[in-house]
Amino acid sequence: MKTTIDISKGYVDEPLPKDKDLRVEIERLKKEKNAVILSHYYTRPEVQDLADFVGDSLALSQQAARTDASIILFAGVHFMAETAKILSPDKKVLMPDLTAGCSLADSCPAEDFERFLQRYPDHTVVSYVNTTVGVKALTDITCTSSNAVKIVGALPADEKIVFAPDRNLGNYIKAVTGREDMVVWDGACHVHDRFSVEKIVELKKAHPGAKVLAHPECKKAVLILADVVGSTAALLDYCGKSDAQEFIVVTEVGIIHQMQKMYPDRTFIPAPPSDSTCGCNDCAYMKQITLEKIYLTLLYELPEIRIEEDIRVRAERSIRRMLELS
Ligand code: 13P
Ligand code: SF4
Repeated sequence: MKTTIDISKGYVDEPLPKDKDLRVEIERLKKEKNAVILSHYYTRPEVQDLADFVGDSLALSQQAARTDASIILFAGVHFMAETAKILSPDKKVLMPDLTAGCSLADSCPAEDFERFLQRYPDHTVVSYVNTTVGVKALTDITCTSSNAVKIVGALPADEKIVFAPDRNLGNYIKAVTGREDMVVWDGACHVHDRFSVEKIVELKKAHPGAKVLAHPECKKAVLILADVVGSTAALLDYCGKSDAQEFIVVTEVGIIHQMQKMYPDRTFIPAPPSDSTCGCNDCAYMKQITLEKIYLTLLYELPEIRIEEDIRVRAERSIRRMLELS
């Protein structure tokens, strides 16, 4: 294996073979190296189609914990690949572009969070999976949008809780569980925090039979308009159970590829961002993962996620607690 590959940009940047079909090459490399590709629903359609498994954050971490592949190639953002490495330290976890981050994870730097927690020494810390390994290491129980309500709801009523980093999800959990005294870190996702209430109302008027599907990272004013609030997997599931023909989708637009694949006779209308110039129903980080980068990553087995063992062990504890409770 070459060790002189330049990954200073966060990914391998090399000319691609012009005479080869990348999909065929990726399949070949996968078999040769006993690799599995895990992808989130927000990635590009061609990346989702190539993956061995596409899922929400919870399903992806469960899959990463149980796979018997030697290599996990994670087609998603950094915290997701990091979670896979935390759960599978003996496997090689590759990520096609290390700079594919997450604005929500970035809104909670571990050093600031550690200082913040000093104000709440007797609190149980519940953190959303969209966090760095440093934040997870300071956390008692990790959660995802699939199980956040269940996990907080299962804690004794008199247990004091700090929730991080998403203020919208935190406030949604407070409303559903009645845990009004839960302390919530003031973070947000730049995609979900900016959906426009006015534009969703206009869409509802234009499509009176449509059901509104919203992710809990959206603002309260948006969630009030929703027929269902849930993780990406829960929203997909709802489409299968509903009789509606049209759906207004208030989460990252990449999921519509999966919705159309699963329910080709239905219509999915992406909720527009509040400012049409900002493109904020699109997570640019997820779209950094391309077939070209996947091919080069598998070929050179770079870039690889590496985590210091002591911090990994602390972070793993909080994720294992979540998996036990899920
Ligand atoms: P899910 O766990 O619902 O897939 O959400 C992940 C995410 O990043 C939402 O922005
Ligand atoms: Fe992070 Fe938001 Fe992108 Fe989800 S949509 S990965 S929360 S930036």
